[in-house]
Amino acid sequence: MKLWGGRFEAGPSEVFERFSGSLHFDKRLADADIRGSQAYARALERAGVLSPEERETAVAAFEAMRAEARWPAFFEGAEDEDVHTLIIRKLKERIGVIADKIHTGRSRNDQVSLDIRLWLREEIDAARDLLRGLLAALLEMARRDSQAIVPGYTHTRRAQPVLWPHYLLAYFEMFARDYERLGEARSRVNVLPIGSGALAGSAFPFDREAIARDLGFDGITKNSMDVSGDRDFALDFLHGAAMTMLHLSRLAEDWILYSGEEYGWLELGDGVTSGSSMMPQKKNPDSLELIRGKCGAVFGDYSALFLLMKGLPMTYNRDMQEDKPRLFDAADQLRGSLQMARVVVETTRLKPAPPLAAVQESWAVATDLADALARSGVPFHQAHKIVGRLVLESVREAKKPSDWTAEALARFDAAFTPEMARYLRPEEGIRAREIAGGTGPHAVAGALEEAARRLERMR
Ligand code: ARG
Repeated sequence: MKLWGGRFEAGPSEVFERFSGSLHFDKRLADADIRGSQAYARALERAGVLSPEERETAVAAFEAMRAEARWPAFFEGAEDEDVHTLIIRKLKERIGVIADKIHTGRSRNDQVSLDIRLWLREEIDAARDLLRGLLAALLEMARRDSQAIVPGYTHTRRAQPVLWPHYLLAYFEMFARDYERLGEARSRVNVLPIGSGALAGSAFPFDREAIARDLGFDGITKNSMDVSGDRDFALDFLHGAAMTMLHLSRLAEDWILYSGEEYGWLELGDGVTSGSSMMPQKKNPDSLELIRGKCGAVFGDYSALFLLMKGLPMTYNRDMQEDKPRLFDAADQLRGSLQMARVVVETTRLKPAPPLAAVQESWAVATDLADALARSGVPFHQAHKIVGRLVLESVREAKKPSDWTAEALARFDAAFTPEMARYLRPEEGIRAREIAGGTGPHAVAGALEEAARRLERMR
């Protein structure tokens, strides 16, 4: 069966049918398509196109098909052009001529938009649930070693000491923004396109607001031509997905390094690592490497849809059928990566000694000493120079900060007062950074509490 064909003398070539068919991927929209059509049948009744009995017959038949469509057998051997055609064909097999009325005032253009929106809304909700779980796991990890000190890096070089929970809360912020961003995408997804027809609007008197309420949409779209050619809402989701993957890939990269022998800070759970077929000693961070790798696939999906839409003339063009494999892939990669990341976070443990030693062996406290000089009135550029010379001499003589005493500092430069020697210890510089958003112990404790409250509100 086809939803068109009257004006053709010859049927489509076999090559074209194979080339243009989308059932093998858009069958994933079957449930959304059926739910949308049930609401549409109710709208058709309200518009006087279907009698109450016809509507009841159609809705019940759709309901039976919904149950069947959960199983592969429903699609077996089907040669329909797409999922929408398949479902109308199966409806007709069940209820005959009533099925011929279902497509009144509707186009596959507004139908496809509806189906994607219904499906995407659920995917976004699932992704946001998973993000909440990841945020909770990060918070728990931050509370576990709340006093641990690690080097913060710039340029992959030891920069300044920070509290371990401060580092983890940085990722909390990123994923909290992703949660918001996907919520914003959802608000643009959750608008009813039905009533737009192919491009010019439906010629039947639908109460579109009523259909929107029936399907749980927040409102209705405002321009039928826009609807027919619009995939902004899909790109908004892909942007949110890509940003989330970007953040996951950075966490993955950090932890691949931090759990390796060169850093030795983190012990990844056995359950998220793999051995080597040849090297018996290996414990490889494959889960994190795969998260990092799958990130590339999602960026590819995002840019593919961007490029697909670029320069398309108004309104619908068949190019747009290719949006679905990209969306499905991105949603799957996002889901899988978020699930994986949560398990990694839950099973990874910090080993506080190596990162603390990394701080102590380095001159990560240099800024704290310069800041102390500046607070005593030494202009910062001069303070920077004094501490720079101190570091140079220490590097030449292989001295760590702990090898210096207050007397030795004063001898090195008279600007150093005895009380400044405490900034040779990383805890002191951290304690000085009680500014909002800083790594001071009280600031971080407050940030932990605030993050917990924010997580509570993410419902
Ligand atoms: N499978 C198609 C899609 O997903 C259905 C739309 C076909 N519409 C058309 N005007 N040929 O885009």
